[in-house]
Amino acid sequence: MKTMITGVQPTGNFTLGNYLGAIKNFVKLQKEHNSFIFIADLHGLTSYQEPKKIHDTILDLAATYLACGVDPKYTNFFVQSDVNEHSVLGFLVAFQCRVGELSRMTQYKSKKEKQGKDGIDLGLLIYPTLMAADILLYDAEIVPVGSDQKQHIEITRDIGERMNKRYGDMFKLPDYYVPEIGHKIMNLQNPNEKMSKSSPINDKGTIFILDDINNSKKKIMSAVTDSENKIYFDEEKKPGISNLISIYASITNKSIKDIEDKYKDSNYGTFKKDLADLLEKFILPIQEKYKKYRYNDELIKILHNGAIEAEKVASKKLLEVREKMGIKYDN
Ligand code: AMP
Ligand code: TRP
Repeated sequence: MKTMITGVQPTGNFTLGNYLGAIKNFVKLQKEHNSFIFIADLHGLTSYQEPKKIHDTILDLAATYLACGVDPKYTNFFVQSDVNEHSVLGFLVAFQCRVGELSRMTQYKSKKEKQGKDGIDLGLLIYPTLMAADILLYDAEIVPVGSDQKQHIEITRDIGERMNKRYGDMFKLPDYYVPEIGHKIMNLQNPNEKMSKSSPINDKGTIFILDDINNSKKKIMSAVTDSENKIYFDEEKKPGISNLISIYASITNKSIKDIEDKYKDSNYGTFKKDLADLLEKFILPIQEKYKKYRYNDELIKILHNGAIEAEKVASKKLLEVREKMGIKYDN
């Protein structure tokens, strides 16, 4: 069985983009893989966050994941900082990298443009080294993520390969698993920008899974579209309606073509109304399940058990890495 891993940062609220881009596929594949999923709280600290907020977000996210179908029967579900090996390997991985390659990462570059080089936290520069450690630690071969994370998986492969060459084979090299539809859900108000957990400018364009459903339906109804009033997929010319078609297709597992055929004689109003209703049917059961998990002692137990299982794998791998790197002197 191949190993699969993915993570999510406890920053802001869980969005429809997070679900469709990453978790949906993880849930679909979890039974056929040796599966690990974790809340990347250390990554969440790469820029300052209020401690009380991050604490609550960890639990909110954990309950949301379970509500979305992450099943502890098949998946080791844990919080990153509970398994110290992530930090240690992250540190060792950082030593294998050059400042140049890390500063060419898109995420770093775009933050640098906004904040200036001197105002940027070191954590952002070494963000990919910790992420590489997260993946290499488990010999994961499959990483379901949205398309914004592809570059991080690519650098993980580079680093893994580099360390295998330098110190002898020790890591499997991962591949990303990016869905054809839903890999980049866009902001409903600005379809040229990714729908993101923390989009302070445009909450109106983001569907939050735990938000009041009527609010979310309104956001669908007022999503920005073009003036042609014809429903077909063309990301270049019609980014707004194409984004809504992708959401529809991903939620229903229908093809884009099926949706275009179904709505070829409809207008945007009818299509949006149907999508809003579909969203309600899809989100309400998740919200029900969320409530069941969020304030139940079981939640903490699941995370603790997940960390114990993850640590068994991670500690073995870290030992192997230390031996190969020569910093295990007593063997
Ligand atoms: P983050 O919220 O940045 O921690 O992302 C968690 C996972 O959700 C990653 O695999 C992202 O690639 C994915 N993701 C986040 N936003 C979107 C989006 N708008 N569309 C598709 N996938 C997304
Ligand atoms: N960087 C990822 C994101 O923002 C979260 C993450 C951290 C991750 N470590 C990971 C995803 C390891 C996959 C595998 O979405």
